[in-house]
Parts: sequence; structure tokens; C-alpha cells
Amino acid sequence: MSSKNLFSFLFLLVLPFSSSSDTTAGIKSGFWYAGSEFPVPEIPSTMYTHLHFAFAYINTTSFELYISHSDEPYISTFYETVKQNNPSVITLLSILGGRNESTNFFAMTSQYSRRKSFIRTSIKTARQYGFQGLDLLAVNPNTATNMTNMRTFIEEWRTAIDSESKSSGTKRLILTMGAYYSPMLDSMSYPVDTIVRNFDWVHLITYDYYLPTKDNFTGAHTALYDPASKLNTDYGIKEWIKSGLPANKIVLGLAYHGYAWTLVNPNHNTVGSPARGPAITQDGSMSYRYIKNYMKSYGVTPVYNSTLVVNYVTIGSFWIGYDDVEAIKTKVSYAKDKGLLGFAAFQIPSDDVDWELSKAALDEEEEDQRDSNQRLLAILLPTLTITILLLSTILCILKRKTTRSEGIGELNERAIGRNLKVFSFDQIKEATDNFSIKNKIGEGGFGPVYKGRLSDGEEIAVKRLSECSKQGVEEFQNEVSLASKLQHVNVLQLQGYCIKREEKILIYEYMPNKSLDFYLYDPVKSLKLDWETRIRIIEGVTQGLLYLQEYSTFTVIHRDLKASNILLDDEMKPKISDFGIARLFQKDEKEANTGKIVGTYGCVPPEYVNQGIYSRKYDVYSFGVLLLQILGGKKNSCVYGIENNLNLLEYAYELWQKGNGVDFIDILLQDDSQIGKQLRCMQVALLCVQEKWEDRPSMLEVHSMLKNETEILPNPKVPAFSKNKDNTTQETVVTIELACSDNSLTISQLIAR
Ligand SMILES: *[C@@H]1O[C@H](CO)[C@@H](O)[C@H](O)[C@H]1NC(C)=O
Ligand SMILES: *[C@@H]1O[C@H](CO)[C@@H](O)[C@H](O)[C@H]1NC(C)=O
Ligand SMILES: *[C@@H]1O[C@H](CO)[C@@H](O)[C@H](O)[C@H]1NC(C)=O
Ligand SMILES: *[C@@H]1O[C@H](CO)[C@@H](O)[C@H](O)[C@H]1NC(C)=O
Ligand SMILES: *[C@@H]1O[C@H](CO)[C@@H](O)[C@H](O)[C@H]1NC(C)=O
Repeated sequence: MSSKNLFSFLFLLVLPFSSSSDTTAGIKSGFWYAGSEFPVPEIPSTMYTHLHFAFAYINTTSFELYISHSDEPYISTFYETVKQNNPSVITLLSILGGRNESTNFFAMTSQYSRRKSFIRTSIKTARQYGFQGLDLLAVNPNTATNMTNMRTFIEEWRTAIDSESKSSGTKRLILTMGAYYSPMLDSMSYPVDTIVRNFDWVHLITYDYYLPTKDNFTGAHTALYDPASKLNTDYGIKEWIKSGLPANKIVLGLAYHGYAWTLVNPNHNTVGSPARGPAITQDGSMSYRYIKNYMKSYGVTPVYNSTLVVNYVTIGSFWIGYDDVEAIKTKVSYAKDKGLLGFAAFQIPSDDVDWELSKAALDEEEEDQRDSNQRLLAILLPTLTITILLLSTILCILKRKTTRSEGIGELNERAIGRNLKVFSFDQIKEATDNFSIKNKIGEGGFGPVYKGRLSDGEEIAVKRLSECSKQGVEEFQNEVSLASKLQHVNVLQLQGYCIKREEKILIYEYMPNKSLDFYLYDPVKSLKLDWETRIRIIEGVTQGLLYLQEYSTFTVIHRDLKASNILLDDEMKPKISDFGIARLFQKDEKEANTGKIVGTYGCVPPEYVNQGIYSRKYDVYSFGVLLLQILGGKKNSCVYGIENNLNLLEYAYELWQKGNGVDFIDILLQDDSQIGKQLRCMQVALLCVQEKWEDRPSMLEVHSMLKNETEILPNPKVPAFSKNKDNTTQETVVTIELACSDNSLTISQLIAR
């Protein structure tokens, strides 16, 4: 019997026990948001009783339920996949009715025929994909008319669900609602009586109380209690119960994400301290996974505030508020004490690689259950033993499985769904004054870039792609929506796109200070880049690359990291640009196969030139080259040394070897008090450009080497593309035609011998 079959068999044995205790057992539900791109087979479904697939939406014209095109491949296999690990897990399809969808939702509820379309298609879709329930999330009534329509809709929905079950002879679909933390919002209350009668349970959105984009002080975004404010979970739950929703129909929301603020004064860093906007990510949101990695890389530990039941941590002027294991355990235990039905976690992929939060919630829940089920336990002891054995085996396997998985985390939980703007061609034409040459600010790898100003005054950068993309519109949209999910302060934010016939246009945030290469090699402009500024740029690029490689939902290999792709904002803070959509253009791969590679000389590592291999170490190599350029203020397309026969890497290495590294450092930076740090950066750079990719450090290591000034660094080996190799097994000769004036050169490759 294969291990999978064995599991299913054992589960069947346990099934009678688990279903007989189902009525008393708490609901342990969790969300999987398709936009997270987290692999469905790796969802720890054994730790949950219910899984929500998020989200389905309402079509604005037909009012039918629809699944966004990019989510379709997931939804069709979701049910089967999660059941493989846990045959008794129940799946629900979550429909977003609130936030950006609320106008749409109320438009749907306002007419009988629209409600009918929606109700019919919601049931049909749920059945088609094997869901056992439907969930309506984040709706809140805002006017009396809307409230009345909402009541009617809920009644009709439930009636239709009941009759579908009767006529089809299948088990009735579960109907749940995800409501805000308190029944009373902006003077309008939820229709509690209708909700009680028609929904199986209500799970509460007991998080996002404070947001760095909205509040100018650090907030406990998911506080259980707060003596100083009503904005807390305990208050909301009491209000719900007071208004008539029984405790045993309430499911507590758990947040597996937190928010990062920038502190006004790093010494004032408790809850409620002055802050000015988000930190680390665009809107400050961070998954628990990302927060843990972040804390680990800085070696800091969080504070637990037991009054509010939240954790927070301060790193320099960044402040992150979130729930760690203690907070989660306390909340689950609170839910048990109050007789609530269970918990709903948003969202499972944000948990860390070892599923620490899921485990904490599960342990707490099971523990209490064991206490109250003493008698039952005595009777069913043998079965329970099997369950526990089984569970620990699964945990064990799961752990092994998940530690292997890539760093998947950071997701912008707030920007649910379609967070990308679609611009019309006319809008863009107007913004750029018909792509006027005076608005042209650059020529990127994929076409010209223009500065534009939208009618509301917002400045944008417009990249008009040349015809090199051979992809269809749909593929283009998919790729673009993937790129839009990357959100980090050191990564240029894609804001939207525009498609019209042959035209494919990308719209980015506008960077007033151009790019790094604009300053670096110019004797006057480079005065603007003092050592402090350069260090900040290095740190920012490191953080951006760390995010792309380790913490973003999918690993991004940039493959064209260079000074002209490092853009600078009004404070000279760097943002990495021109990535993500790199996949759109198959050019590189094709040419690799024909033995000719177009790249930017010096930024392309040898394993790619020679064998077409690219890995994360590709960007590490380019980062090393960039670091040398920042330190030396030197171009990499020139020759150096007494005999003018050394390339930039050879030159740096030779000076380093001779103990004359200081001669490499830009004359403008030379300052005795900083030389130690500068030479350390140079050593790290030389480690990054080593010939063999296996020898190069990872970005995590690079980050740690730059941060911990006492860490002993290894001695760099000969850099790539050196004439004097210490490695005699090298068989490949690479000839590089270069000219000082030209930045993008062709590297033609000859395989010798
Ligand atoms: C919405 O419905 C209309 C009419 O049936 C259809 O043409 C359109 O493609 C739908 N839109 C989406 C996003 O599914
Ligand atoms: C219902 O709510 C929507 C979304 O907030 C709003 O645009 C609309 O005006 C409301 N309709 C009525 C009739 O109050
Ligand atoms: C924070 O915002 C509030 C109102 O939005 C304002 O009254 C207050 O002065 C602001 N505080 C700071 C420190 O900016
Ligand atoms: C928790 O935070 C609140 C609000 O900032 C503060 O008043 C309280 O002293 C803190 N409690 C602990 C134990 O740190
Ligand atoms: C959703 O709403 C937020 C503000 O509520 C807005 O910033 C964002 O652009 C909206 N997204 C879409 C796709 O409409």
C-alpha cells in the first residue's frame, strides 16, 4: 500500500470519530487567496476543517458570478488537490462582495433579475467545481435601501440553495458570511436577524483596524482588547452577541499578516507612536512569513503586549505590528472561552514555512477540546491514538515538504483581486502629449519610456513596448498582473497597462531623479552621491533583490540588473526597474540556444554566456558588478590598469590582492573614517562576481555580510572573465568586443577546444 493510500485508509478509520465529534468540534477554517500563487498541494489542509477559495466576483454587466481568468486553472483542481491530504476537509467558494466590489454587489441586489442571475450562477459554479459551500465576504450595508435589498437577496439565496439541494438530492451547500468586526458600522447596522436565520455561521474580519496608509500612528491592527478604544475584537464580538447573533454562530478571524509603519522617532516605538506612512512594502502589509524572515535577518525579537494581545517589533525606524504564536494562541483560547464556533485564518499562505501559526491555532483548539471531551476520550481512546499518530506523521511529512519549498510569502492582502489599472490609449496619448519627443525620458530594453501626467495631475512613466512581444493579449495581461503583485519599496511599482491593437503599454510610478548611471560616471553629478547616499542605495538594492528572490510570491530573476535600471525617487532612494515582465520576451533564451547572446556586457555571468544557465546567482553576479561600480564610480565597459588591459573586475581584484583596494574606491568617497566599510563592500562585491556560481553568496548572505561588520568574510577567488585564471579546467574562451562609449554590447561566444 502506498503511503498516500495508507493515509486515506487510516482516515476512513478515523472518520466515524471525527464526524461524531463534529457538532462539538470547533471550525478551523482558513483562506487561500489565488493571487498569492501559493501552490495548492502545499496547503496544510490537515490542520484545517474548512478551506475557503478566494475569490469569485460579480460580473458588472450580467451580474453572474465569475472567476477571474487567471484563477481558473486553480479552481478546477482545488477541491481534488486539497482532499488528497485531508479527505474530510470542506471547501467553500468565497465571493468578494465588499471593498471595491460593493457598488457592484448592491447593484446586483437591487433588481430581481440580477439577483436571480447571481444566485443561479453561484450555485452552479460551486457545484461545478466541487465546493460544499459559498461564502460572502466583506459586504457592509451603507444605506437603508441597500440594506433592504441585501435582506431580500439573502432570503432568496438561501431559499434557492435549499431547493437546489432538494431537487438534486445532494447535500445542501453551506452558506457563510464574512462580516466586519462589529454589527454597527458608520451608523448603519447589519441586518442581524436575517443573517441569523439564513447563514450557517458568520466569520468576522477582526483585523486591519489600523493601516499605515491611513493612520499616522502605529496601530494594533488586530487587537483582541483595547482599554482605550472600541476598535478591538472583544468589543465587536460582544456587540454582535448583544444584537442577536448567537456565540455559537460566530467564527473569530485570525490575521496571518501584519503592517509596517515608518516611525517619526525610532525611540517612540510602542503601540500608538507617531508614524509617517507605510514601511517596507507599498502599503506596509507583510505576511507572517516575511515578517519572520525580516526579523531573522536583523536578529531582532518581537515584543508581546498581553493587554492588547498583539506582537510588535522595531527595526531602526520601522515598526511592524502583527500576531505571533502567543497572540494567536490567546485568541483561539478566547474563542473557546466565549463559546464561539471556531476561527477563520486569513490567509494560510502567509503563515511561515513551518506553519507555526496554523500549528499554534490547532494545538490550542485541540487542547481545549481534549479537556472538555474527557469522557468521550476514554471511550474512543484507541481511535484518538490513531488520530494523533496520524496527525504527527502528517505534520512531520508536511514539515519536510514545506521546508523544501521556495520562500513564498509577501502578498498584498489588501489589494485584493484586480489591483491593476487599465488605461485607455487616449488617456495615455493625452498624458504624454501624443508620445511627444520632449516627454521621452529614456529608452528601456523593451522600448521608449515617456513621462506623462494624468488628468488628475498624477505623474507617471509610460513604457511603450516595441513589437518584440509576440504574445497574445491574454498572456500579456496575465504576465502583467503577475508583475503587479510585486510590491516593495525598492521595486518600481507597475500601476497599470494599456492595450490597443498592436500597442502594448506599461504604466509605472514616475521617478523624478532618473537612474543611477546618470550620476555615477559624471564628475559633477556624482557629487550628489556622497557615501551616505551610496550606502543607502546599496542597502535599498539589496532589500529589493532579497524581496524578489526570497520573499515575493514567486522568485524573480531580473537578469538585467545594472545602474541604468536602478531608478531614484525624490529622496534618492533606489527602486529596481525593468523586471518581472522580462519573461514576456523570449529573446534571450532563443539567442542563448543559437550560441549568441545579447546582454549588457559585464552584467552577464559566465555560466549564462557559456551554458545558458540562469539562477538566482545570476542577479548576485550583476549585483557584484553594480556594487563595484558604485564604489569605484567606474564604468564596466572600459579598460583599466597601468597597461590598460584589465576589465573592471580584473582591475578590482588585482588591487584587492595587492592590498591596494583603497585605490579602487572613488576619489570622491575617500575618507579615512569610512575606508573599513568601503573595503568590506568591495570584498563582498568580489565574492559576488566569482567565476563559479556555486562560490557566490546568496542574497541573504550578502545582506548579512554587509550588515554584520564583524562577520569574517571569505577571500574572493578570481572573478569571472579573467585572463589569468587559476582554474586550469576552463575550456571556454569568451571574446568580448567592447567600446567605451557603448553600454550595451554584444557578447559573442566561441567555444574553443
Ligand atoms: C461579463 O458578462 C458579459 C455578458 O455576458 C461578458 O461579455 C463579459 O465577458 C463578462 N465579463 C467577465 C469579466 O467575465
Ligand atoms: C448602495 O451602495 C453603493 C456602494 O456604496 C452605492 O454606490 C449606492 O449608491 C447605494 N445605493 C443606494 C440605493 O443607496
Ligand atoms: C495625524 O492625523 C490627525 C488627523 O488625521 C491630525 O489631527 C494629527 O495632527 C496628525 N498627527 C501628526 C503627528 O501628523
Ligand atoms: C500594551 O500597550 C498599551 C497601549 O499602548 C499600553 O498602555 C500597555 O502598557 C502595554 N502593556 C504592556 C504589558 O506592555
Ligand atoms: C480598490 O479600492 C482602493 C481604495 O479603496 C483603490 O485604491 C484601488 O485602486 C481600487 N482598486 C481597483 C482595482 O479598483
